[in-house]
Amino acid sequence: MSGPTPNAGAPGHVPVLLEPILRQLAPVPGATVADLTAGRGGHAEALARAVGPSGRVLLMDLDPGNLAFAADRVRATGVGVVEAVHGSFAVVEFALARLGWKADAVLADLGFASNQMDDPRRGFSFQGEGPLDMRLDPTRGEPASELLARLTERELADAIFRLGEDPFARRIARAIVDRRGRDQLRTTADLVAAVRAAYGPRAHQSRMHPATRTFMALRILVNDELGALQALLDAVARGAAARGAGWLATDARVGIISFHSLEDRLVKHAFAGLEDGGLAARLSRKPVEADDAEAAANPRSRSAKFRAVRMGAETSRDD
Ligand SMILES: C[S@@+](CC[C@H](N)C(=O)[O-])C[C@H]1O[C@@H](n2cnc3c(N)ncnc32)[C@H](O)[C@@H]1O
Repeated sequence: MSGPTPNAGAPGHVPVLLEPILRQLAPVPGATVADLTAGRGGHAEALARAVGPSGRVLLMDLDPGNLAFAADRVRATGVGVVEAVHGSFAVVEFALARLGWKADAVLADLGFASNQMDDPRRGFSFQGEGPLDMRLDPTRGEPASELLARLTERELADAIFRLGEDPFARRIARAIVDRRGRDQLRTTADLVAAVRAAYGPRAHQSRMHPATRTFMALRILVNDELGALQALLDAVARGAAARGAGWLATDARVGIISFHSLEDRLVKHAFAGLEDGGLAARLSRKPVEADDAEAAANPRSRSAKFRAVRMGAETSRDD
């Protein structure tokens, strides 16, 4: 489990929806931008170039390796100031307050980066064998192995159904509990075997790998991804209500890319609530999605949905 991360020197991740995001977040020279999910720095580098030598960039990420990689990439643009904060975007208000900054543009690109998925030692992937870890922040928190050992069959079934929307959630939970009782649930390959056992012959009937939904559900659970997103949306609401006196500038723009219907629903409702309350306006009525060319070039972009708001009630929309 030691040794360098595969492709440690390469980004290993293609940023999604880059052009429409730059258009909607509209970073200008001298602005302060916050990339709350720095990842491999693709979006952050473009934002940094737009704000230039008089601009400032806050980078956050749960993954210290990705944060350091992104920070190097952003510093190389010659942007004025770069601050890198290891931690969850749930605490972005405190990170900015400590710096004494207000954000003009904020981006969160939810979930995992491709380099994390592609490293079997992180345990995110059902392809290749690795430990049952799945933590975005490998320095703290409960790995999937502990969660799988602790949860009841009912709790596992509920999580796989709610977060993974897998119709075989109950059977999968039963297979997991059965295998852990026999000490046969140690690696990602063991978890795949449990899911395959639950699916039986149906495992070969769908184009999607049968373990896709289970792995997604566990990743979301291990990292409390919906809880963190809700905390961020609450912070955005406080920033909007503060009308420039909080962590967001008076006319700040905030954009979120989600890859899961539950995440997109939370973002959609939160942004619609801000608009209804006269605190912000959506920058487009519908979410921005990948066009055919991007979807063909980057399969990951196919499930991406980007929604953005601008603080203040008045705005002009893209659509
Ligand atoms: C989709 S990738 C971001 C990719 C990035 N936009 C780029 O262009 O390279 C998501 C990143 O967000 C991080 N992440 C996920 N949830 C987070 C959270 N609650 N707080 C901070 N970072 C988080 C992950 O570790 C991962 O590096």
